Amino acid sequence: MARGNREYGLATTVLHGGRISTSPGSPVVKPIFQSVIFGQETGTANGLVYPRYGNNPNAESVQSRLALLEGAEAALVLASGMGATACAMLALLRPGDHLVASSWVYGGTRTLLESELALMGIDVTFVDPMETRGWRKALRKKTRAIFLETPVNPTCRVLDLRPVRFLTESNGLALVVDSTFASPINFRPFEHGADVVIHSATKYLNGHHDVLAGAVLGTAQYIEEVRQKMILWGQAPDPFACWLLERGLKTLSVRVERQNSNAMRVAEWCATRKEVRLVHYPGLETHPDHEIALSTHQGFGGMLAIELAGGARAAEKLLRRLSLITHAPSLGGVESLASEPRFTSHTHLSAAERAAIGIPDGFVRLSIGIEDSADLIADLEQGLR
Ligand SMILES: Cc1ncc(COP(=O)(O)O)c(C=O)c1O
Repeated sequence: MARGNREYGLATTVLHGGRISTSPGSPVVKPIFQSVIFGQETGTANGLVYPRYGNNPNAESVQSRLALLEGAEAALVLASGMGATACAMLALLRPGDHLVASSWVYGGTRTLLESELALMGIDVTFVDPMETRGWRKALRKKTRAIFLETPVNPTCRVLDLRPVRFLTESNGLALVVDSTFASPINFRPFEHGADVVIHSATKYLNGHHDVLAGAVLGTAQYIEEVRQKMILWGQAPDPFACWLLERGLKTLSVRVERQNSNAMRVAEWCATRKEVRLVHYPGLETHPDHEIALSTHQGFGGMLAIELAGGARAAEKLLRRLSLITHAPSLGGVESLASEPRFTSHTHLSAAERAAIGIPDGFVRLSIGIEDSADLIADLEQGLR
């Protein structure tokens, strides 16, 4: 496994960050610097600390840990995943530029790219990511970047980055990857040709459903440009959010390993049930992207989706009956969650439009947590009965 700039393995890095040197009497856990102001040196602007600049000690600490984890030169933590995507795009694109994006992205990202970038005179072409030639066909003279999300929310499709990487490298474009679903434990996009990596840190990176945050990673020069956007558009995170995120990160590898194995068990069990028409989980050999996930990911993830034979009514019944798995949006935390994309990320589409992108009525997304897998299966069993 490639280590990038990391001196230690992934599990050690998530826990300790870089090399630790704790002198006697100093705290082992970094305290929260819940202060907006810091004393300033006289006669110079150097060393000005202000949380909106992303240089509060808690932000800097979690940023360097994230950069080590993903194998990036630099990282920036922002107020949300959407804030991260917005500032990453603002730093990359100018009016008149063109972006090619996968049409399989989180609903909020889709609206941001489609509606907000248009207001700034930035054109976006959406392509079906499984049509390899579609990427090339969409390129224009003014194309600056390709944006994609993998694994895809909520269908759990896993994209092959090789053909996209070939295009971005041979055309001098930036490859931007939203890697929220994978986390660096399962997949590290920089090892597969990405130039920019984005996370909704609200999900796996924090992992406890109690922090809203986002992250952008890339070269030091690019991250400095994202930081300027973050400062001016006011997208910096609060020091406490950074502190919680760093605490959550410490257990990332044990959480994700457990979520991977729990999700595999739940997916295998769901595949045996007559009430379930289809199971979407890349760990199953029947999944269309099983081979690509097997060869590029270190784990198949904690996210899966099921399509119920009874359609929308069956989905509603299941969600009402579940008692351990909570009916709630979001994902990636220690508690297992279930949700229907038709009432969350994809409400803006008609039933036919949703079905066309692989989310028919009766589609339930499961974010598997770290409970006992037998209890999760028992809950699903009583819910489906
Ligand atoms: C893949 C993906 N990217 C980005 C986001 C946006 O993140 P946030 O809710 O932290 O703004 C989400 C939210 O669900 C997501 O699933």
